[in-house]
Amino acid sequence: MLSDMAEWRRTHSCAELTESDKGQEVILMGWVHRRRDHGGVIFVDLRDKEGITQVVFNESAPEAQKKADALRSEFVIAIKGVVSLRPEGMRNETLVTGGIEIISSEIRILNTALTPPFMLDEYHQTSEDIRLKYRYLDLRRPLLQKNIIQRHNIVKNIRKYLYSKGFLDIETPFLTKSTPEGARDYLVPSRVNPGRYYALPQSPQMFKQLLMMSGFEKYFQIVRCFRDEDLRADRQPEFTQLDIEMSFIDRNDIIDLIEGLFVKLFKELMGIDMPRPFPAMSYADAMEKFGHDAPDTRFEMYLKTINNLVANCGFAVFAEAAQTGSVKALNAKGAGNKFSRKDIDTLADFVTTLGAKGLAYIKINPDGLQSPIIKFMGEELAKVIIKEMNGEPGDIIFFGAGSASLVNLTMSKLRIQTANMLGLIKPDQYCLTWVLDFPLLDWNEDEKRYVAVHHPFTAPMDEDIPLLSEKPGKARAKAYDLVLNGTEIGGGSIRIHRSDVQQSMFKLMGFSDDELQNRFGFFVDALKYGAPPHGGIAFGIDRVSALFSGADSIRDVIAFPKTQKATDIMCDAPNTVDIGQLKELRIRNTLED
Ligand code: AMO
Ligand code: AMP
Repeated sequence: MLSDMAEWRRTHSCAELTESDKGQEVILMGWVHRRRDHGGVIFVDLRDKEGITQVVFNESAPEAQKKADALRSEFVIAIKGVVSLRPEGMRNETLVTGGIEIISSEIRILNTALTPPFMLDEYHQTSEDIRLKYRYLDLRRPLLQKNIIQRHNIVKNIRKYLYSKGFLDIETPFLTKSTPEGARDYLVPSRVNPGRYYALPQSPQMFKQLLMMSGFEKYFQIVRCFRDEDLRADRQPEFTQLDIEMSFIDRNDIIDLIEGLFVKLFKELMGIDMPRPFPAMSYADAMEKFGHDAPDTRFEMYLKTINNLVANCGFAVFAEAAQTGSVKALNAKGAGNKFSRKDIDTLADFVTTLGAKGLAYIKINPDGLQSPIIKFMGEELAKVIIKEMNGEPGDIIFFGAGSASLVNLTMSKLRIQTANMLGLIKPDQYCLTWVLDFPLLDWNEDEKRYVAVHHPFTAPMDEDIPLLSEKPGKARAKAYDLVLNGTEIGGGSIRIHRSDVQQSMFKLMGFSDDELQNRFGFFVDALKYGAPPHGGIAFGIDRVSALFSGADSIRDVIAFPKTQKATDIMCDAPNTVDIGQLKELRIRNTLED
């Protein structure tokens, strides 16, 4: 028997043929995107990876016409036919192939398809769960195809750039030991070492540093990382990093390398000339003006601490917060004319669900001030605050009071929300910024110990080393993050390369000698055999791809992503396993005990 494909070779893709191909006999292959029957004349939108071409089955080829009658969405077909111009008035200017159609003489049905659980064009009417269950169908959508191809192009360009700079692509183990990046580990039991576990890497951090100690000097890897943490739109349990490490360098070398990379990515993939140097700000500035360490710099409108103005004021909530926490203000310029009373109430509900106790405001009307707090603080102070915030008639000044962390959280989100409502964020706007001078350590009140803000291998600023013995919380780190449109896309640091400094860092973080030896002994030892000064950075490829594609979630740029509950509903993972497998691993399922 002849195979379906016998003697037929695809001549063109479904995005190729135009008016200039008129009269050519062609063979196209793909999926039935849509089929319409206009009184016996059957129109099929034929789709492949590249695009869509209209195919017509009419009485000129009765056999093909009859077969086409049986076609349904997502059938896989091959057609032979002649390129013809579409009649006047029937052209589709939005398609490359919109000026032509193929009058089909022959059709082969290569495969049938069940009725799909959702039509590709109507995906937004289907729950994401259904689309994830049938991910192989969802991935046929032109938009997702575009995203996945864009991601491929990002990775291809990154590799090209780093190879040209002399970087070596070196793999590191997945079955390894815990690396302290701050999340929970995914553990893998060892059958041959009962009771022992590997941890999947949260990042290749220690290995890339060991490669510097081995003398490779310039390393990179595009590598999967695994973190068991609370998931969000920009977090997956397994995600991909561009991981980089270099020897004999300082912060500026990393900044230089990465700016060169992003200038190239923006130019090649988005057609954007990204000016250099990229803007930079200190962590302290980011927290003060944006309330967040990943500042959205696409618009101005900054937060301002007004503790000094309200410390002794008549509004007890502000006076108390100014003494023990913080009070921050935001001038929503022009919002007075745009926000209704209901909008303000909605914003108050929004911050309240985030934990705020309320949303005080002063609305500056041309004929006076309108505010629920003036009766407490008095008009005179209100005017001082307005001046400090450059308030003018038509503005609304919003306030958050409480613990510093809560105020930063709620006011940073309010800032974005307000900017969206005021239309301050333009589509296709890309703003990068470096955030520098992070604190080295953070005090964890629950555990009563310092934890590393970046990770424990990060070097302190040279001038802050004396602070480590007196006020460790005040020491700054040689760490840097790159932020795009309010999303942290990458972060790294210059590392500690002396074993004594690394050891005292671990001690500061409350590790006992035994713990230190057990978890990091091999690493501290390695530092004793001639470790060069080194540093690096890692980028979230999923986040970069999502931002480049305009996707709301990184799930839209990952071929097979997990749900918010870290499950794969297509292949049903995680799942139970045979009792025999568990026995082999010497694991008792405690849930069934
Ligand atoms: P960090 O933990 O900052 O640094 O991670 C680097 C970048 O990885 C991305 N990222 C994630 N993306 C998706 N889902 C996640 N769960 C997730 N977690 C992180 C972010 C982040 O900026 N070893 C260090 C790097 C170094 O010091 O060189 C590290 O992993 O875009
Ligand atoms: P109250 O006296 O509680 O009605 O508060 C007066 C105004 O201050 C209301 O508009 C509240 O929304 C607002 N408010 C109360 N607590 C806070 C807070 N912690 N931060 C900001 N605004 C607040």
